[in-house]
Amino acid sequence: MKKFSLFIIFLLIIQVDANSKSLLIKPKQILDVRSGMLVNADILIESGVIKKVSRNIPVMSHYEIIDLKDMTILPGLMDAHVHLTGNTDLKGNDGISETSYLATIYGVKNAKQTLMAGFTTVRNVGASYYSDVALRDGIEQKAILGPTLLVSGPPLGITGGHCDSNILPAEYEYKAQGVADGPWEVRRKVRENKKYGADLIKYCATGGVMSKGTNVNNRQYTLDEMKAIVDEAHTLGMKVAAHAHGLEGIRMAIEAGVDSVEHSSLIDQETINLAIAKGVFLAMDIYVSDYILGEGAKNGIPEYSLNKERIVGKRQRENFKMAVESGAKMVFGTDAGIFPHGKNAKQFKYMVEWGMKPIEAIQASTINTAELFGKTNIGEIKETFDADLIGVKGNPLKDITLLENVSFIMKEGQVIK
Ligand code: ARG
Repeated sequence: MKKFSLFIIFLLIIQVDANSKSLLIKPKQILDVRSGMLVNADILIESGVIKKVSRNIPVMSHYEIIDLKDMTILPGLMDAHVHLTGNTDLKGNDGISETSYLATIYGVKNAKQTLMAGFTTVRNVGASYYSDVALRDGIEQKAILGPTLLVSGPPLGITGGHCDSNILPAEYEYKAQGVADGPWEVRRKVRENKKYGADLIKYCATGGVMSKGTNVNNRQYTLDEMKAIVDEAHTLGMKVAAHAHGLEGIRMAIEAGVDSVEHSSLIDQETINLAIAKGVFLAMDIYVSDYILGEGAKNGIPEYSLNKERIVGKRQRENFKMAVESGAKMVFGTDAGIFPHGKNAKQFKYMVEWGMKPIEAIQASTINTAELFGKTNIGEIKETFDADLIGVKGNPLKDITLLENVSFIMKEGQVIK
């Protein structure tokens, strides 16, 4: 008995020791994402948290040194728009026979791929049967490896809209889980998502590209319904992300008080100004169009979607440029899941090509996402912040595509790569 309890104490000591292990990172330089300056400093990490950022921190004997002399260190990247349970291995309508169990298993694989690409926090916007909640909890409980997740559960949508499914005929009586019509029904749906563990609410404010029989230009939901969604979600402490391509839906979502407009493809100057005035973030996924139009057909994306993509893709990029030039609040969001997970960083190059300075593209994926996510402990390399870090060989302000090849990854003090 005595031996046994000594053993337990021994285990506890090991445990405490592992958690309070001090790591000293010695990089070539750190990118201060707020100022855009490259700084010479070391980073001291204790219990997964950044304890000190300063030049020549005195080395104590118990520090474990991580020598990254050839790297620039940045905060871990974030993506505000992914679908981890979206399985890119399934072609076209094959997805209809996929169980949520299988989707979750693929989610495990996709979450790991996303983390291994340097994305330490991502927002999952739409998943059936709360498979995203399970993924988030599995990662949090350290059963599996992945980014920290914020999840929406089933996205809310009108009957027959982009967040429903119009593939099966009436006799199957199928409707997607997030379908809700009318102000009271949407409130109930928001409450239900909260009940089953969602962090935020996603809803469809217009038709979409990947859905059958919806028009990207058409508004879905009335202003009353959108206001009810936002009011209920905000009352419950949840942020709201609205999927919207068409102008009327974008404007109505902003008027209703959403926190971010996803896609924002056909936004105009007046509505950009409205978004700025109301502090609404735009998450414009300007890489995915090249994937859909380039590789979509051979990967089973149906012709009706390709046709719709031809309407929104180019204009979305032009409007992205207009939004950047107007000083809109922008976050990095890609729609990974349409294209293979782990390729999220490909979008940085597009953001720079379409008007952002490299530092602005990086800010979109760090401090801006942190603000949208309501998190005050990630997105910067700063004392008291979580030790979510990445390292690249070279200067990403000179070559943004370096972010596509991350050499070092740390999540909450744990070296992942
Ligand atoms: N999930 C979106 C939809 O189906 C994808 C839009 C992709 N196209 C784009 N240009 N962003 O509507």
